[in-house]
Amino acid sequence: MNYKIDLDTIDISGSVPTTEPERQYYYMAKCKKLIEEKSKEIGRPLRMCTQTFGCQMNARDSEKIVGILELIGYQETEKEEEADFVLYNTCTVRENANLRVYGRLGYLKKLKEKNPYMLIALCGCMMQEADVVEKLKKSYRFVDVIFGTHNIFKFAELLCNRLESDRMVIDIWKDTTEIVENLPSERKYPFKAGVNIMFGCNNFCSYCIVPYVRGRERSRNPKDIIREIELLVSDGVVEVMLLGQNVNSYGKTLDDPMTFAELLQEVEKIEGLKRIRFMTSHPKDLSDELIEVMRHSKKICTHLHLPVQSGSSRILKIMNRRYDKEKYLDLVERLKKAMPDLALTTDIIVGFPGETEEDFLETLDVVKKVRYSSAYTFIYSKRTGTPAASMEEQIPEDVIKDRFDRLLEEIQKISAEEAQKDQGKRVEVLVEDVNEHTEGYVTGRMSNNMLVHFKGEEELIGTFVTVSLDECKGFYYMGHKCD
Ligand code: 5AD
Ligand code: SF4
Repeated sequence: MNYKIDLDTIDISGSVPTTEPERQYYYMAKCKKLIEEKSKEIGRPLRMCTQTFGCQMNARDSEKIVGILELIGYQETEKEEEADFVLYNTCTVRENANLRVYGRLGYLKKLKEKNPYMLIALCGCMMQEADVVEKLKKSYRFVDVIFGTHNIFKFAELLCNRLESDRMVIDIWKDTTEIVENLPSERKYPFKAGVNIMFGCNNFCSYCIVPYVRGRERSRNPKDIIREIELLVSDGVVEVMLLGQNVNSYGKTLDDPMTFAELLQEVEKIEGLKRIRFMTSHPKDLSDELIEVMRHSKKICTHLHLPVQSGSSRILKIMNRRYDKEKYLDLVERLKKAMPDLALTTDIIVGFPGETEEDFLETLDVVKKVRYSSAYTFIYSKRTGTPAASMEEQIPEDVIKDRFDRLLEEIQKISAEEAQKDQGKRVEVLVEDVNEHTEGYVTGRMSNNMLVHFKGEEELIGTFVTVSLDECKGFYYMGHKCD
């Protein structure tokens, strides 16, 4: 918890504060009282379960919601079956993410019939789509609270409204310029944390729904970011992941504009912080200044996620990515020259409308030239409202499937070869977890983002350990701890 506020000291008999975050703390105090009453009624603590779909941004948003839920008295459970409050933080970047949510809602309805105290809340990107909310209003009346990506900070207020009434509470904002600071948050790991540095996206890649559901780009004030990280570090965090849809354009919307590279230099100065990661980097905005800062940094990890999406300049143009194959490869070359140990990962979309075999071969060519340490591959998914959805020449499924398989095969071959290169080396890892498969083993993460499993005790979690990389297993290592 970052902000340890005692809700019992808040006066809830008076008028509702009009400024944030005070207003939300007022509602949290109110919720706490209502939850206490319900809990007495049932004779046990109330339990909550949250499910997060999609990206790191959503994961971070969920931590904020869980922070509030814990503060108002809910206990966390992993099982929806025993929860009195279930929240789905949704993703809509590809259609199957939406379908999964509808499927699971059917199951939740049955659970709710058995537990009259159960509340169901939905939030996240999918809720920013008008037709989704219409459908929920019409056919999913058992959902209790619906909110979007712009007003997560209002969660306590919305929940309070629901607890005080019997109606479905819906609050969706189209966009916002507001950033509310100093709300509670619960971290999944005590030693590492995601930190939002900006919200939204202005790029409008022609296949992507994110700019429509996450709104315009806005950066957090650097002082707020630094203060948050300092607080995290004082609470035991040694690694941060700076989050934004396009971190390379950080700072443009600030009153005192600042570059991402400048922000990184400020973060680097924070004493006690050991590792810095960030995502996502749009290739079009990756500056020489950033390469220099990365090169000289002692804390920025040797991993860069640099989505290419396609290797065909023709397709990249239609995707509105604003770089071409040559520019991307040139950028990769400059990065590798400056940092020979840098591990590159990427996102690739297969089957974008109009993609020919030649275009696809260009993508394979980029994969072979860059030699990614891993890559996320996606089958193009038509998102209503994006320019690509109305493009002619959508690609037949069997063609896409064939390309997808060929791409995957190439990527797996290359990433295994790349991983192999570190065999026998000694590296420093941050121990993250006990190994679920082998008893007595723990899992550490290298600077380049690769995992290594080795013999060790649970007490090592959150500490840095030097490990020898004994055997490469494709996308992870088996190793042993060096004394
Ligand atoms: N279809 C398939 N993949 C998509 N992505 C974004 N939109 C789509 C879509 N419509 C992928 C991109 C992006 C990643 C987060 O999701 O590769 O980088
Ligand atoms: Fe989507 Fe492109 Fe923005 Fe990434 S940069 S979120 S792919 S529009």
